Amino acid sequence: MRKAYRNALALLNGAALLLSAAAAVRAVELGRTGGPYVPTPQVVVDQMLRMAEVGANDFVLDLGSGDGVIVLTAARQFKARGFGVDIDPELVKLSNDSARRLGVADRVAFQVQDVFNADLSRASVLTLYLLPSMMSDLLPKVFLELKPGARVVSHDYHFGDDWQADDYMTFDVPEKEAINGVPRATIYLWIVPAKVAGKWRLSIEGGAGGYELDLKQKFQMFEGSALAGGKSTKIELPQLRGEAIRFALNAGAGRHVFSGRVSGDSMQGTVELGTGRGTVRWTATRVATQAAAR
Ligand SMILES: C[S@@+](CC[C@H](N)C(=O)[O-])C[C@H]1O[C@@H](n2cnc3c(N)ncnc32)[C@H](O)[C@@H]1O
Repeated sequence: MRKAYRNALALLNGAALLLSAAAAVRAVELGRTGGPYVPTPQVVVDQMLRMAEVGANDFVLDLGSGDGVIVLTAARQFKARGFGVDIDPELVKLSNDSARRLGVADRVAFQVQDVFNADLSRASVLTLYLLPSMMSDLLPKVFLELKPGARVVSHDYHFGDDWQADDYMTFDVPEKEAINGVPRATIYLWIVPAKVAGKWRLSIEGGAGGYELDLKQKFQMFEGSALAGGKSTKIELPQLRGEAIRFALNAGAGRHVFSGRVSGDSMQGTVELGTGRGTVRWTATRVATQAAAR
């Protein structure tokens, strides 16, 4: 317990953490601390929100919201709505006071809550600045509760090799030197992928045939095969970004290139026919599910 707390202090160091040391100790005692309070510098907050392309239609949720800087900035600069949860009641009170003072209390709120009890389903953007062990523990919840297409942005810490970031950037932040000894910040971005694992029946319009797809998925990566006329073909060039899907199938003379959107148990879009017969529509329906591999 003591060792875990010392490690937490070493990773997120600085004078600011003393403010919420008591809350961090309580969380360590519960065995699940995301680390003590260390605010993300404003320049990093701005870049996180830009990287997630936050806009007025977004609902931004910060897990372990500290003084509320990320959600407050999303409301003030990007007109978003949002919510923050933190285990430290003083930080939550400070955040709600700031929201009233800044005139955004109609769009954002903060609540005392353990991150594991937070409802993520409303969020279109999830922000994180939590210790690596907490990131790993949160991974299944984040992947399963967020809607496909939701963006996750994290300051400095990632989900390990399990769920690789779709994008990241590192830049100089001199003021972080005094906080954790590293004058740089890294921001990671993930786009929550649609769940595509399972068996699908795919039809191409205009009598161009159909396939039985058998897909396996690991986060945004998927692979599989397509069966038509007793012949199995490997899925080529698979891409999944949120609900947007793309893949190709060898069609003898050329390649059919499919692009479209996944919506629950159906997919639809257009296919450029490799046989040189132009572009037509395709649809697919899931006929058997299979848990997405993690
Ligand atoms: C490094 S600070 C980040 C604050 C803010 N998100 C930011 O980036 O400025 C981590 C915050 O997570 C909170 N925290 C740690 N463990 C938590 C838990 N299990 N549930 C809720 N909040 C937690 C701490 O109180 C602290 O305010």
